[in-house]
Amino acid sequence: LAISKGNHRHFMLKEIYEQPVVVAQTLRAYLRRLDGEVALPTENFDLAAVKRVTIVACGTSYYAGLVAKYWFEQFARVPVDIDFASEFRYREPVLEPGGLALFISQSGETADTLAALRHARLGGQTIAVVVNVPTSTMAREADLLLSTHAGPEIGVASTKAFTCQLAVLAAFAANLARAKGRLTRDEERRIVRHLSEAPAALAAALAYDEAIEAMAPLVAVARDVLYLGRGVDYPLALEGALKLKEISYIHAEAYAAGEMKHGPIALIDDSVPVIVIAPSGPLFDKTVSNMQEVQARGGRVILISDYDGIQAAGDDCLATITMPKVHPLIAPLVYAVPVQLLAYHVAVAKGTDVDQPRNLAKSVTVE
Ligand code: G6P
Repeated sequence: LAISKGNHRHFMLKEIYEQPVVVAQTLRAYLRRLDGEVALPTENFDLAAVKRVTIVACGTSYYAGLVAKYWFEQFARVPVDIDFASEFRYREPVLEPGGLALFISQSGETADTLAALRHARLGGQTIAVVVNVPTSTMAREADLLLSTHAGPEIGVASTKAFTCQLAVLAAFAANLARAKGRLTRDEERRIVRHLSEAPAALAAALAYDEAIEAMAPLVAVARDVLYLGRGVDYPLALEGALKLKEISYIHAEAYAAGEMKHGPIALIDDSVPVIVIAPSGPLFDKTVSNMQEVQARGGRVILISDYDGIQAAGDDCLATITMPKVHPLIAPLVYAVPVQLLAYHVAVAKGTDVDQPRNLAKSVTVE
């Protein structure tokens, strides 16, 4: 079956634009909206007995896992280990009975992730997978299959699979929290309501596309770019830096905003754009004070926040990107959009092969 780019110049852009629809599709599979319940196919699993979750993945899927670590620990109060699949087996992880191992993969075929899955199986873990290809090897080898319904992803740099992974993982975190007796009916209802708001918020985020395109030249001239974020925005910063590297070939690094002063601040000068991801919320002031440390050293900041955040801290920035104001639970999904669009437009400005970047493969089936 041939898949077309439709009216879009690249598959990547098409896939970025599909996110409101495919996230809605994915959520539909895991939420009972009218009852205000999360509904994952976990009936045959004793989630209440889960003592530890081990998350393993590669690339963008790993960053979705890193966001999930915050959610699982915050909502379900279950400790989470997370590893790159290529590191997992070789560090001789301690896998105790009652452990749940969660593998995240768009393709369901990535060699390192699959090898890690089999290692966890030998270690007696219950195997859950979040995959986008329901016929994939990982899907077949799982105890608990949680499919993302993103549809085929053609662009080598993952976009819509990432936000769909986040949607499933948020629902899973709530499901685990409920099983652990950590969620009241009211809290569950609220979570379902906030998640249901994600598709419209993603659509609103896409409305900033042209403005991001207009600021892309500011980043396209840079040799190095820094991304900063705190809490769940730290994995998003990592994802932003990865996207930019993958498709524009600009060197980019991400740091937890508070860690910047322990090294990367030495890199700051006016030639290094610093992308700060900071939705307004409990961590906003802390991130802004790190941002001001950058500005005090002549660093030029592109601030991604909502209207309130931009009003409070946007004045001295090189540029700002205004996102809709959303509940913190869905902010990682919504803020993925500007991060993807920025990388996309910078790559287009540089004239690189966006859908087929050099040296990269969509699915890496060698170790
Ligand atoms: C490759 C792709 C990335 C992807 C990673 C993991 O490196 O270029 O976009 O995130 O593999 O792939 P998976 O299919 O396991 O999610």
